[in-house]
Amino acid sequence: MLNESQRVGFKLHNLLVWEKNNCTPSQFYMKNCEYVLFLRKGKAKWINDIGGSKTVHQFNNIIGSKTHPCEKPVELLKFYIANSSNMGDVVFDPFIGTGSTMVAAKELGRQYFGFELETPYFDVATNKLLDIVDK
Ligand SMILES: C[S@@+](CC[C@H](N)C(=O)[O-])C[C@H]1O[C@@H](n2cnc3c(N)ncnc32)[C@H](O)[C@@H]1O
Repeated sequence: MLNESQRVGFKLHNLLVWEKNNCTPSQFYMKNCEYVLFLRKGKAKWINDIGGSKTVHQFNNIIGSKTHPCEKPVELLKFYIANSSNMGDVVFDPFIGTGSTMVAAKELGRQYFGFELETPYFDVATNKLLDIVDK
């Protein structure tokens, strides 16, 4: 992922850590975090929460009711989107899954688009977004 990103012109700015409230069982060190590549293209742009956001952040994982094994909590994605974009900006997620990023973007007043290969996940994402639009 990093190699490919660098190949198309992104630079690694920070390695962020999402510390979770659950662990992946393992015979070795149990994983209770996920790493996030914070990349930039061109000049570095300040985050919005200057002085308030650290590289390690805690958000509860979704436990029990996931429709995708890698489904991410909307609050986590809102944290990243709020820090790196403004109202009306466009958020792109090339791997939508169940649409958590799209939901986060919508709730924060961003425009959004993305791709998803698997029709069942695409349908889940579409229905989530339609629910929000209906409300
Ligand atoms: C890690 S999951 C995303 C989970 C998502 N963040 C969520 O909260 O539901 C990655 C998704 O990317 C999709 N995917 C993988 N390769 C793809 C491709 N080349 N184009 C579009 N979607 C792809 C997979 O089907 C999978 O649903």
